[in-house]
Amino acid sequence: MILSLKKTMVPVFLLLFFILAGFGIKEQIANNQEKIQLSDEDSVWDIYEKLGKIKINQVNSEIEGVSAEKGKDIIHTGSSSKQNGKGSTGNQSPYFKCTACHNTEKEFSDLSDISAQNRLDYAEDHNLPFLQGSSFYGIINRVTYYNDDYQKKYGHIPIIKASNTDLRKAIQLCATQCAQGRELDDWEIESVIAYYWTLGLRLKDLSLSDNDRNKIEESINQKSKQSEAIQLIEARFLSKSPAHFAEDKAFEKMESSVMENKERFQNGKKIYERSCLHCHKNKRYSFFSLDKSRYSFNNLMTRTKAGGMGSIHKITRHGTWPLAGKRAYMPLYPTEKLSEDQLDDLRIYIENMSEGKDLSKSK
Ligand code: HEC
Ligand code: HEC
Repeated sequence: MILSLKKTMVPVFLLLFFILAGFGIKEQIANNQEKIQLSDEDSVWDIYEKLGKIKINQVNSEIEGVSAEKGKDIIHTGSSSKQNGKGSTGNQSPYFKCTACHNTEKEFSDLSDISAQNRLDYAEDHNLPFLQGSSFYGIINRVTYYNDDYQKKYGHIPIIKASNTDLRKAIQLCATQCAQGRELDDWEIESVIAYYWTLGLRLKDLSLSDNDRNKIEESINQKSKQSEAIQLIEARFLSKSPAHFAEDKAFEKMESSVMENKERFQNGKKIYERSCLHCHKNKRYSFFSLDKSRYSFNNLMTRTKAGGMGSIHKITRHGTWPLAGKRAYMPLYPTEKLSEDQLDDLRIYIENMSEGKDLSKSK
């Protein structure tokens, strides 16, 4: 009797076991499907979407022939294959490539500290040019363009005003005004945006603390506190490139202790090499040639003392204007792109070099 009860109980237990185990597995599968683990390569926009933010500046892929490769070619070489893929378009500008004034790499170790010196140090460590325009890296994570003094000073010009909040207009404005070239077609602008999407910020760029990263992960998985999570991300980079212009200052004699400061000389040298020579060496983007000869430094120093448009104080703060018809011009440096201290460092370098004193070689 007892034996037969045991015998019938075995299949019942087994059945119960399988049912329970089955539930367990089902639950595990459900959990695994939901739990999202963030990885370094995740794009900031994908994380935003998971937190409920609506994407802006999406590529309109209904336009025929749009591709990130074409956009990349336009930015780096000035032309691309045509909309139908056959042959090549004409050059966008006879004077410039977009990369004359814009990098396409990350420019800061900490994207929430965009000081000009942080940018120069990063350029030195990563062998990048140091330019007047902001990098296209992370541009799809920014929401306004031609900010602050660009708007204050030129906001009365309709396309500059419109460019403040419209990336497509900002691209067209820069193609025709900065690069002094032809207008881009709509498929070309869309291709540039498609390329920009390949340069979007990634999670690793934000250098989040483990704690903050966990909070963001939790927020996604539990679908709670999304706006707090978004704020944690937003605190780690700027959603615009600030731009403040400075007045040019008059030439004044510098104290010899300042003039002999090797660190400042070295900093000025970096600016000269990574910025001025980027465009002026061998007349790459300009008819005015600069190099590291005594002649170049003397020329700059004489004009700086004279205080005319060729003075380094005037040229950096005002740039030049495209005079009478289309031609190359030099954009000004906002203080975010060249600080007042850095401009002094540049002067210290140029003045010493014009006197044959290379402080990087002296003990
Ligand atoms: C001669 C220099 C120069 C050239 C060439 C140039 N740009 Fe610019 N561009 C600038 C400057 C200066 C700004 C000012 C705002 C900034 O970048 O911070 C700017 C701004 C922009 C902005 C808005 C960026 C922002 O965050 O405010 C976009 C987009 C842009 N340029 C696209 C282009 C494209 C596309 C090309 C090539 C077709 C190009 N630029 C060529 C100098 C240049
Ligand atoms: C984005 C490219 C670019 C950069 C960077 C640049 N320049 Fe220029 N610069 C030009 C262009 C273009 C002109 C206009 C002259 C021409 O070619 O017609 C010019 C003009 C000048 C002139 C006036 C030349 C003349 O004949 O009157 C001086 C001086 C000058 N630049 C110095 C500098 C110094 C110093 C730096 C670094 C702080 C610098 N430039 C950085 C492109 C650039």
